[in-house]
Amino acid sequence: MNEHITVTNTPTAKTPTLPDAQTVTQVRHWTDSLFSFRVTRPRSLRFRSGEFVMIGLLGDNGKPLLRAYSIASPAWDDELEFYSIKVQDGPLTSRLQHIQPGDEIILRPKPVGTLVLDALLPGKRLWFFATGTGIAPFASLMRDPDTYERYDEVIMMHTCRDAAELDYGRELVESLSDDPLIGEMVGDKLRYYPTTTRETTPHMGRITDNLKSGKVFEDLGLPPINPDTDRGMVCGSLGFNTDMKDALEGFGLKEGANSDPAQYVVEKAFVG
Ligand code: A2P
Repeated sequence: MNEHITVTNTPTAKTPTLPDAQTVTQVRHWTDSLFSFRVTRPRSLRFRSGEFVMIGLLGDNGKPLLRAYSIASPAWDDELEFYSIKVQDGPLTSRLQHIQPGDEIILRPKPVGTLVLDALLPGKRLWFFATGTGIAPFASLMRDPDTYERYDEVIMMHTCRDAAELDYGRELVESLSDDPLIGEMVGDKLRYYPTTTRETTPHMGRITDNLKSGKVFEDLGLPPINPDTDRGMVCGSLGFNTDMKDALEGFGLKEGANSDPAQYVVEKAFVG
């Protein structure tokens, strides 16, 4: 599958002087184009679920090659988890996809981002809208007790082209009700609405279409999105984010920010 990729081991990649080095503890390949990995967490790193950090490797020129990645693990986890696409000619992910436990990556411990609970006004129902690797910040928020303390219901809508691309999110969601740490808090508050758009599966369609047609409300037995009760967080491609903003504004929701909390927030899913 990756036969046209030549991996060269650069001696600089493991130099002990690597700045902000963290050690890879686990790697899982979900499909030919998706993988997740866990790394050690710097003791000093504090972050809010949903935020992102810059991570990467040393480039061939000896300079750090960094990209923004949402932290997919919750704030209470001892390690950090990331979920990534593999771009065969991507400057970073063409190499990052080959990391193994014991390898080092660079992680700048400066978390930032708008997909945080603090950027939203209080509400009753929280909607997570993601395409592809855009589920990463929600993998963190779905494991955060604060999410369930603040909202009565949490709905995770995730859309990918093919069924296998949903596996990372599906496995996570399915594990939560039995999770010894937060299982009780999650209870039956978390609803999951995965769909595909290319491969035929029982649940299909773009998130935007399922919102506009009202199918998702009908399927879940929920009233339509309402600015008095519903809050949204959006993470996907630029096109998806733009169309979701239109859809949510159409329901009467206003965009918020850390400095000005409102009814929905948006962030681009990072690739590279
Ligand atoms: P579709 O297959 O109909 O394009 P991509 O890999 O292109 O980022 O797409 C990931 C998923 O997001 C696909 O299921 C795709 O649906 C969907 N998608 C892409 N663009 C949009 C958009 N503007 N609005 C809603 N869904 C989108």
